Amino acid sequence: MYSSSPDRLCRKIAKIMERYNEIARDRDALRLRSGDGERRRKVSPMTPTSCFTKCRLHGRERDMRRVTELLLSDEASCSDVYSVVSIVGPAGVGKTSLAQHIFGDEAISSKFDIKMWVWVCQEFDALKLTRKLSEETTESPCDFADMNQMHRVITDRLKGKRFLLVLDDVWDESRDRWASLQVPLQCAARGSRIVVTTRSKKVAKMMALKMHQLGVPV
Ligand SMILES: Nc1ncnc2c1ncn2[C@@H]1O[C@H](COP(=O)(O)OP(=O)(O)OP(=O)(O)O)[C@@H](O)[C@H]1O
Ligand SMILES: [Mg+2]
Repeated sequence: MYSSSPDRLCRKIAKIMERYNEIARDRDALRLRSGDGERRRKVSPMTPTSCFTKCRLHGRERDMRRVTELLLSDEASCSDVYSVVSIVGPAGVGKTSLAQHIFGDEAISSKFDIKMWVWVCQEFDALKLTRKLSEETTESPCDFADMNQMHRVITDRLKGKRFLLVLDDVWDESRDRWASLQVPLQCAARGSRIVVTTRSKKVAKMMALKMHQLGVPV
């Protein structure tokens, strides 16, 4: 039976009003407007790709040399199929731009049989990333929704080949998730390389033994 006294109802209404005002204050602080709905998931038209404008990279000669060195250093003793070099630095400092120039460099490209570029971004979606990897290896759209089939496509294409893979804008800190993404890369030829760009030192250390810290260009 409902037996709320007027006093109790008043207190409840006051609490609801208090909460409402709190939410309204947060909305103002975050500058949200009435048209702002749920979190936008659309890929921005500014998604960075391996293509870049031919403009010069100002003040990055030393960084370019150093990353090239890390990338091409001979690792005869290394038994791994590939090694990973991470480029780490704050937002907007030029990590993607440097990776693009490395990716497009003819002397570097000539050392690899196949080149792939995957923009990873904040949300780690293993299926989506594997599909992108598959599309990069075959240079055609991937119709498979099944992980196993995608892995087969990637391994068929990479078998015995030296690849250069750029994973741009990595945020995810889970070692296990990264290990799962890298499974189909194991069939490639030794001497393959992965370049990771990230704002996070933790990610950079987790993914790569070789790290290049990017500061403001001089
Ligand atoms: N050395 C440079 N010379 C000229 N322009 C540069 C240089 N480095 C970066 N830029 C320009 O600065 C902007 C930001 O660079 P970029 O996207 O490479 O940064 P980022 O470090 O990858 O940022 P984020 O952390 O957001 O991914 C781009 O428009 C790029 O063209
Ligand atoms: Mg970037």
